[in-house]
Amino acid sequence: MSHDRSHDAPAAADAPTSTPPADTSRRRFLQSAAAAAALGATPHLHAQPNAPASDAANDTASAPPVVPAQPVQLNINGREYALHIEPRVTLLDALRDYAGLTGTKKGCDRGQCGACTVLVEGRRINACLTLAVMHEGQRITTVEGLASATQPSPIQRAFVERDALQCGFCTPGQLCSATACLSEFAAGTASAATADVRTRPAQLSDAEIRERMSGNLCRCGAYVNIVAAVRDAHSAGA
Ligand code: FES
Ligand code: FES
Repeated sequence: MSHDRSHDAPAAADAPTSTPPADTSRRRFLQSAAAAAALGATPHLHAQPNAPASDAANDTASAPPVVPAQPVQLNINGREYALHIEPRVTLLDALRDYAGLTGTKKGCDRGQCGACTVLVEGRRINACLTLAVMHEGQRITTVEGLASATQPSPIQRAFVERDALQCGFCTPGQLCSATACLSEFAAGTASAATADVRTRPAQLSDAEIRERMSGNLCRCGAYVNIVAAVRDAHSAGA
């Protein structure tokens, strides 16, 4: 079917050079829309170019309060660290940025990957989900504290022998988690994979290991060898 341009744009029929090409019109429309969006996104700047000084004071009042740093004493890997940090600093940031212990890794920083797993009083926790000030007077163990002065820990040795890592980013958290996993099993703690939680699990099966280590993700997918390493360390009596 033919298209009758005279109905669409009668004025343009007499002055074709005054009608912008379709792509130019579209570009102008997009530019106008972008400008309108920018205005909508910054209403305060455009609506009040000469805002009084009191508004600036209000903006300052609504800003997050400055929290002064305070002394915090942490016992990490058997050594005392006297830190001077804000109360809102996470244990993960305190370890890495203030104590200089960068073995503990920051993956998601929101409790989802387990890369930041450390031990506090022997229990594994996500260091990104807790504040450093909450752990004064407690024993904190990071991956740097698992080995003795002369030897790797049994679980570290098993990881090496089983080649249970690829890029290694998740490994510090896996090692801390596996260490606590074996202690928890030895203490008779049940897991979601335990058939009858009223009785001590009979053996540390692969299903038990997978469930107990499920909070530690490995983007390289080294899970088969990680499970084997935990199984070996358990069999060796770690
Ligand atoms: S960095 Fe803490 S759980 Fe991912
Ligand atoms: S070894 Fe690369 S993320 Fe686990």
